Amino acid sequence: MTTALTLSGSIRQGSQNQRLQAHMGRKLEAAGVAVNAISLGDFDMPIYNEDLEPEQVPEAAARLAELWRSHDIVFIASPEYNGGVTPLMVNTITWLSRQKPSVFRHAIFGIGGVSSGKYGTIWALSHLRDTLSKMGALVVPTLLGIGPAEQAFDDKGDFVEPAIIRKVDSMVHELTHFSRG
Ligand SMILES: Cc1cc2nc3c(=O)[nH]c(=O)nc-3n(C[C@H](O)[C@H](O)[C@H](O)COP(=O)(O)O)c2cc1C
Repeated sequence: MTTALTLSGSIRQGSQNQRLQAHMGRKLEAAGVAVNAISLGDFDMPIYNEDLEPEQVPEAAARLAELWRSHDIVFIASPEYNGGVTPLMVNTITWLSRQKPSVFRHAIFGIGGVSSGKYGTIWALSHLRDTLSKMGALVVPTLLGIGPAEQAFDDKGDFVEPAIIRKVDSMVHELTHFSRG
């Protein structure tokens, strides 16, 4: 069975990106995928500093790296902070980039984000795609940038706008059909 790991670059209570993570999880499950939804709050890692290596590498880095390597799909819901991704997201990717073997070369990656602004995380996603691609990840073409958040979801946590619903379907199709060969 195809497996997916889902996560959010925001761990705050009431996070809109956690809603997106949950929504994508439901959609992937409906497509027959076994979904493992994690919280980065369970992977405590200090701010990356080369001096911490090799003695003080957090055990969470190895634990999270193994999850990224062992799922067929990784879906990241990323908020936008100041036109980029959150410190949590940067720190997580930085620690993961130091783990061997590479965590980027196995799964197919999907990225999306919800923001309070109408541009819907497009700068952050562009940044994130660039970083992941440079690290060797295969990121599917659909970009799920969603905003403004307060108009995006209905009370079940599903999307309202037909264009977003179509994009979600496209991403699920891409995530379940792309392969690294
Ligand atoms: C430090 C900070 C920077 C932000 N920068 C942006 C931004 O550049 N673009 C944007 O659309 N929203 C920005 N926002 C608003 C976020 O889109 C909004 O807080 C969103 O709900 C965060 O995602 P979350 O609900 O998953 O935590 C920023 C919020 C914070 C706290």
